[in-house]
Amino acid sequence: MLVLGIETSCDETAAAILDCSNEQPEILSEVISSQDDLHSLYGGVVPELASREHLRNLPLILNSALTKSGVVLGELSGIGVTRGPGLKGCLLVGVDFVKGLALSTGLPWIGVNHIEGHLHAAALDNIALKTPYLALVVSGGHTEIVKVETLGKYQIMARTIDDAAGEAFDKAANLLGLEYPGGAKLAGLADSVANSRYTLPKVMREIDDISFSGLKTAFSLLVQRTAEDAVREPQVIPELAFVMQEAIVSALIHKLNLAVQATGLSDVVVTGGVAANHRLRTAVGAMAGVRSWFPSPTHCTDNAAMIAHVAAKRLRAGMRDDYSLEVAPRWPVEEVQAL
Ligand code: KG4
Ligand code: ZN
Repeated sequence: MLVLGIETSCDETAAAILDCSNEQPEILSEVISSQDDLHSLYGGVVPELASREHLRNLPLILNSALTKSGVVLGELSGIGVTRGPGLKGCLLVGVDFVKGLALSTGLPWIGVNHIEGHLHAAALDNIALKTPYLALVVSGGHTEIVKVETLGKYQIMARTIDDAAGEAFDKAANLLGLEYPGGAKLAGLADSVANSRYTLPKVMREIDDISFSGLKTAFSLLVQRTAEDAVREPQVIPELAFVMQEAIVSALIHKLNLAVQATGLSDVVVTGGVAANHRLRTAVGAMAGVRSWFPSPTHCTDNAAMIAHVAAKRLRAGMRDDYSLEVAPRWPVEEVQAL
């Protein structure tokens, strides 16, 4: 069963072709084009520019994925495309492209929830990972802890009510003068020192959900207070980065621990762009009684293999979409159809 996946929900244009004939899918090709350089000029993703870029790139990316896999369209069994959540204009480019492709080829296709893709991405790289497990999805656009019972059955244990974890990293990085997206750069600075003379309040201990707004304000005030020291002493910026990284990671670990206790689950998947963070990986790995799992770096960030993977399971269960399907820019993952 050969399945094509298409992902255009934010600022990555991606296509992947998977052979899903066996329990463990085989990735025949995957092509991802990131728009980071385009958006870094503006300090964040500009939706209109992102959708135009998808429109320009998608046919090229698909061609490249087909060529690399040696598969021709007629050999495919079906197509999966991200239907939401994401930026409306970006989702429209992907979904309309797939509608056209399905019309011309007669292939069955299905709209996939982007978060559902992330929830199962670790299975692409870890054959031993089995449901049920807890997944911490931490990216530039999402932050949620989800109980994954089986494919299609999800319970939200905690979700951000304001910024995503990646956004918190990026905004803190911006305050330190680092170029967008600055999360990884802030992490690099933080990892270059062993500790910090500064402190930040412990956040999120009183609320059920996840919120980074208090921490952001506290960090912004700390950066203002230390601005003169930072000019004199090069060590100040890395120490500020360190204390912020510790605060974000410790808040996430606190929430994960609560979810582990509430569910009794011991397998924890960490996924999304922020899963690249070394400190977070180490902290999850050190959680008592927890077995931690991570997708490969390519499958942590937005990619089309995770979309093809979920699409294959849904198509195999007989699920199909048709031309009346609309994009769903806000589509809570717990509302997807169970299999
Ligand atoms: O999943 P992703 O590639 O795409 C979006 O959701 O847009 O996640 C990107 C996010 C950005 O906010 C980026 O700064 C953050 O992940 N990120 C990191 C690290 N690497 C990427 N944040 C902290 N530490 C890192 N090492
Ligand atoms: Zn994502």
